[in-house]
Amino acid sequence: MKKKILVLNGPNLNMLGIREPEIYGRKTYRDLVDRIEEHAKARGAFVTVCQSNSEAVLVTKIQRAYGIYDGIILNPAAYTHTSVALLDALKAVGIPAVEVHISDVSEREDFRQVSYVRLAAVRTIMGRGFDGYLDAMDVLLDEVLADNGGRK
Ligand code: DQA
Repeated sequence: MKKKILVLNGPNLNMLGIREPEIYGRKTYRDLVDRIEEHAKARGAFVTVCQSNSEAVLVTKIQRAYGIYDGIILNPAAYTHTSVALLDALKAVGIPAVEVHISDVSEREDFRQVSYVRLAAVRTIMGRGFDGYLDAMDVLLDEVLADNGGRK
């Protein structure tokens, strides 16, 4: 059975290519979705990629993933640093989740050093640009969801 992965992107990630290109690069959100979909196809996985500027919508999408998706890749964007609701949603559904950030948040402002969702994430990948999403998919498929107990 193909593994089902849900990729969720938080606020302002739809502005990729326009927003702060010196931090996030010049590639667009559409470019990101294309790369994720291509990688999923190459890896034989089923993927759904979503973006929302609303915390409530993101919480609802996590809840609706229950019983359907095997893994979640989540870039909560600014909600990373504020949202207990997203943390609780991940804990509620118990679906393995990888936290992704395009930029290296560890090198940025103090207020970005807090991540609530990290408490429920199996891994955090940051500072790898768009490749971080592909790495996250590989972590889920090869380590967390692998039928061989994580051996490669
Ligand atoms: C981000 C980092 C966050 O601090 C920021 O609020 C974002 C994007 C990243 O992908 O690097 O919107 O999650």
